[in-house]
Amino acid sequence: MGRSARFMAVLVGLLLLVSACLAESDDGGKRLCTCENDKGTCVNNTCRGDICFYMWVRGHEEKGCFSNHNYMEQCHTSFERFHVYCCRENLCNALATPRPNINGETTTVPPQQAHPELWITVALLLLFMVAGVCGLLLFLRFRRAHTCLKNVDDHNVTMLKVPNGDDPTYGGIFDEFCTSGSGTGLPYLVQRTMARQISLVECVGKGRYGEVWRGTWMGESVAVKIFSSRDEQSWFRETEIYNTVQLRHDNILGFIASDMTSKNSSTQLWLVTHFHEMGSLYDFLQYSSLEPESCLKMCLSMACGLVHLHTEIVSSQGKPAIAHRDLKSRNILVKRNGQCCIADLGLAVIHSQFNDFLDVGHNPRVGTKRYMAPEVLDESIRMDVFESYKQTDIWALGLVFWEISRRTIINGIVEEYRPPFFDLVPSDPSYEEMKKVVCVDQQRPRLHNRLHSHPIMSSIVKIMKECWFQNPPARLTALRVKKTLSKHDHDSDFSINKLKQDI
Ligand code: ADE
Repeated sequence: MGRSARFMAVLVGLLLLVSACLAESDDGGKRLCTCENDKGTCVNNTCRGDICFYMWVRGHEEKGCFSNHNYMEQCHTSFERFHVYCCRENLCNALATPRPNINGETTTVPPQQAHPELWITVALLLLFMVAGVCGLLLFLRFRRAHTCLKNVDDHNVTMLKVPNGDDPTYGGIFDEFCTSGSGTGLPYLVQRTMARQISLVECVGKGRYGEVWRGTWMGESVAVKIFSSRDEQSWFRETEIYNTVQLRHDNILGFIASDMTSKNSSTQLWLVTHFHEMGSLYDFLQYSSLEPESCLKMCLSMACGLVHLHTEIVSSQGKPAIAHRDLKSRNILVKRNGQCCIADLGLAVIHSQFNDFLDVGHNPRVGTKRYMAPEVLDESIRMDVFESYKQTDIWALGLVFWEISRRTIINGIVEEYRPPFFDLVPSDPSYEEMKKVVCVDQQRPRLHNRLHSHPIMSSIVKIMKECWFQNPPARLTALRVKKTLSKHDHDSDFSINKLKQDI
């Protein structure tokens, strides 16, 4: 941020503080706001909060209140087709409506007010502004001061342009925010607005975690994961990671929005992501068999996703290293182009070399026992060392490769789908059952002879074996898996050029 922008930010912050103090109401500083939703704390069309808001998104209106000052930032979001008006007077959002201006664009109109404290606030604001602007004019040159003045205007009106044109797409919305440099995900208010415009269409998955639905937003399919209340920590973790880490990658499930609402006094936690109609890899393998080239494509795409997760990128648009901790075929989605993407970051751990900070989160959940590495089962894992978590991901990656390889046709032979260790442990195995097989007896999934007769598959067999070393540091890294698989991949967009970019 430049000096002038910082100065302006401090000035605007001061102004907001003064106006907030003056506008304090008699309920411990909370304002009474109009609300028009059946969610949150809205009772009889009113709620209490620090800020009243009115929001308009292409014909959809919402009124309500925020109790969190952090939302002030959202109030000043400038965004195509989104109109947000925030105010700090009792019921000040009651009469706000969008109205087209002379250019056919829309501006939000605050209601007329007659409160004396408003006038005091406005007068003080003006006073501060004049003083601030004079200071700025002295401090900066004429042109830059002019820019800041314009920003002050933007803050007060908080309205966004609405050009004519098509309905928004979430890709378009992301582009808008990415190019405007607003960080990783969409601003929370926009996420919330989008989530509340989604219609749930059909349930496509159900489990201990909750449910996954196909929904539609502005005519596009989206996936909505509704977390069960006992798994709320996974929602918090995944939301935190997607909102703080730049995770856009072809082989990581694309995040759209997170939303928390309260319905009939219970909390609903939503995670909205891209929808992949082919479903999870687990579902896909039940009814599909593959050619070796398709198997390679899936394995390589997973390795690419895992390399992206595991790698810390040090730059302004960088990311910390992330280990997944619950890699399995149910947490991998199959895309229409035959590649896969990795989903469910609810258990992930984050590491930054910069300050050697390991963030393991606060989730009581553990990984899936069937996919647990020996050092997790016998509790010898070094939980304070980030590398250990990556090594457990590699163990699980090998097991997922094995599931795919069973469904790969070679010389006309293919095996039925089976989960790892299907022949050695019962369904929903206990720790003790898994530990006996994996740690004590040191058993590994059996590999069919046919796999050795195909160059791609024999290479994948070698990789699997090197993912399953008992000694964690001896296992391959995700980058090594990716490089080895890339050598077999001559005609896809994974090949050498793409690989070079990631090294
Ligand atoms: N099942 C779980 N997540 C999904 C998604 N994003 N798309 C389709 N099916 C899913």
